[in-house]
Amino acid sequence: MPTINEILTTMDYGPAPESTKEAQAWLEQHGRQFGLFIDNAWTESSDTFASTNPADGKELAQLTQATQEDIDRAVAAARRAQPGWVALGGHGRARVLYALARLLQKHARLFAVIETLDNGKTIRETRDADLPLAARHFYHHAGWAQLQSEEFADYRAVGVVGQIVPWNFPLLMLAWKIAPALAAGNTIVFKPAEFTSLTALLFAEICLQAGVPAGVVNIVTGDGRVGEAIVNHPGVDKLAFTGSTEVGRIIRKATAGTGKKLSLELGGKSPFIVFEDADLDAAVEGLVDSIWFNQGQVCCAGSRLLIQESIEERFLAKVRARMDNLRVGSPLDKSMDVGALVDPVQRQRIHGLVESARAEGCTIYQPTCDMPADGSWYLPTLITGASTSAAVAQAEIFGPVLVAMSFRTPAEAVQLANNTVYGLAACVWSESISLALDVAPQIKAGVVWINTANQFDAACGFGGYRESGFGREGGKEGMYEYLTALSEDARPAAPLKAVAGKPRAASASAGSPFAIDRTAKLYIGGKQTRPDGAYSRAIAGADGAFLADVGEGNRKDIRNAVEAAHKAAGWTRATAHNRAQVLYYIAENLAARADEFAARIAAMTGAADPHKEVQASIERLFYYAAWADKYDGLAHQPPMHGITVALNEPVGVIGIICPNEAPLLGFISLVAPAIALGNRVIAVPSEAHPLAALDLYQVLDTSDLPGGVLNIVSGSADELARTLASHGDVDAIWRHDGSAEGCAEVERLSAETLKRTWVSGAKGRDWYDTKQSGGRAVLAHASQVKNIWIPYGV
Ligand code: NAI
Repeated sequence: MPTINEILTTMDYGPAPESTKEAQAWLEQHGRQFGLFIDNAWTESSDTFASTNPADGKELAQLTQATQEDIDRAVAAARRAQPGWVALGGHGRARVLYALARLLQKHARLFAVIETLDNGKTIRETRDADLPLAARHFYHHAGWAQLQSEEFADYRAVGVVGQIVPWNFPLLMLAWKIAPALAAGNTIVFKPAEFTSLTALLFAEICLQAGVPAGVVNIVTGDGRVGEAIVNHPGVDKLAFTGSTEVGRIIRKATAGTGKKLSLELGGKSPFIVFEDADLDAAVEGLVDSIWFNQGQVCCAGSRLLIQESIEERFLAKVRARMDNLRVGSPLDKSMDVGALVDPVQRQRIHGLVESARAEGCTIYQPTCDMPADGSWYLPTLITGASTSAAVAQAEIFGPVLVAMSFRTPAEAVQLANNTVYGLAACVWSESISLALDVAPQIKAGVVWINTANQFDAACGFGGYRESGFGREGGKEGMYEYLTALSEDARPAAPLKAVAGKPRAASASAGSPFAIDRTAKLYIGGKQTRPDGAYSRAIAGADGAFLADVGEGNRKDIRNAVEAAHKAAGWTRATAHNRAQVLYYIAENLAARADEFAARIAAMTGAADPHKEVQASIERLFYYAAWADKYDGLAHQPPMHGITVALNEPVGVIGIICPNEAPLLGFISLVAPAIALGNRVIAVPSEAHPLAALDLYQVLDTSDLPGGVLNIVSGSADELARTLASHGDVDAIWRHDGSAEGCAEVERLSAETLKRTWVSGAKGRDWYDTKQSGGRAVLAHASQVKNIWIPYGV
């Protein structure tokens, strides 16, 4: 049978242009001038800028640069509309979402042509990928709106959401953002990218036809300054951003301490791994979809080709041959494979990176093919001979440029795949399901495609690990991004104080002339450790008298603890059953020493009923032991022949600043879910009352918890939190001590490596209430969803 390549070389194509008549008529109908869409009305266009067709450089329309007043009006309209939108109920909203989906399908051709004109991507892609996927997103989320009262009974809409998207999938990103937000009952201020706003403006018209009430969807255009105004607006409750990691960082910093919910879908440098037993011709076609789809301007593009050494030359020869047959040209021509880049700025950027590789001695392969004279184009490019640290191997090029390198063993493939700051997606090609499914969980990425590439569906969550951002779009997990747990509203305004009992002696030995001077040490790597600085701090009891000294941890201690936590990676691979057993064992040993812990709590906090806290702590350990092997993932059935398995994976190494309220229960309520799901932890116990948590290491020593899984470093919460938040090898940080400024600082510092954060702000939490301090919401903080796509029978 001839290969696809052989077929392609024998075929010739005539031009097959798509008509732009309807699209041009729509632009003319608006006089090629657009205002903003606020409160279901168009503003006069003013302070305009041009939107051009990247395929020929010609102007399509003038768009409005929104002002601060415009954003104020849009946010106010969204705020006014929100209660009514919620009151419409799940079914009412489902009807509107369904109408939007139907209208997108009805006008699919118009949308597809406008998208191609505005963005430069081929009509084949807008027609066959962007539009069907966008419509499917609205259908799927009409379903979530309908089921909201059952499936999300303990949640409410977040409120007014600000959404900012890039130019690579203008309408699809709009659908990914707007559909779940509307389904959950939020109202929206949406900003498309300045290069590609037209389909969003057409969507505004569709909203009017679909009966979206005034103020529910507001669409404002303009550049990054408009995005900034949305981000900084105090009337916005949640921000959802897709775009560059650089801007993602700016948004993380800008929202630090504001309490705004945030999801970031950022860049990637995704590996495309080909093992020697792969179906090589299928892998080549997958590669075309992976790196040359949308000119490589795809956050999850398979831009790093990793080939097993034994087939390297053979595979690269096939890739080059296939590249020779890619057709680059008018995106409106239905037979083109590669269209125009969005803007000459992108061309310059890509060109600069490719030339830097050439200067470093890499081999650059580009096919010889005709390209149009005008517009913004770049040839499909293959780079070989790059070192793993070369700019082209590390930076997101965001163009049709593939960098290839080889590996010998599966272990080396995994190591190379993870040699990036990003973690958005990966492709694994092998005919051995055992090998592919062994490798997939080892790759730090939110999506793994096995023997396929760039598949998307509304039912399957999408989003990154590491500097590719946090939060998911699509799937049930994507809905939670637009919901707030009702238990959050029930939280006390400030941390709760213990109910004081009768003043009592601090401990049996305190004050006794024969007391043994014992300073509670730190607990690092399974060992009691003296603090690096050799300092200690005095802890006072509830009666104000000296109770004990505890070690004063510093930056070096945190670094040691992080190192120990990384060494304990075996915990992540331990079975859930085993992790549960260890938690039960800790509970059992704590129960055996309940009186001792109760006495300690009473001495520290003066609690009237300290046994209550110990019993609640034991129960909480049982609770998370129970969850350890029950927080299962899901098996989705997207519209392909196969399944998508959504796994709840641990986040990695988590730094936890524990509360002062309920110092033992608070500590356990945070540490237990983290370790139950396979994370390793550096915990900073209550700064005011650290002793019960420090006493725990004697319990841990006898409970089979491997060293390094839980490290306890006492000292200044501010200083230790700062070190944890700035540490490059910490994956997430939680701060729950009610320090508003401390929480803001943690969020600010976490921006550097885009750590996931979970902070209390100034509010307290009732640690006895499982709704406030337990449940799936906590487990979601301790995990991240990886979707593995497994087609079969193809
Ligand atoms: P960008 O991140 O600057 O723009 C994305 C969106 O954010 C646009 O709507 C823009 O107007 C807005 N924006 C810009 N600055 C902002 C700010 N300070 N606050 C709020 N919103 C702001 O991406 P850009 O400049 O379009 O592309 C630059 C590079 O970013 C690309 O070459 C590519 O490497 C990467 N990128 C990655 C994307 C992804 O999907 N991961 C998408 C687009 C770009």
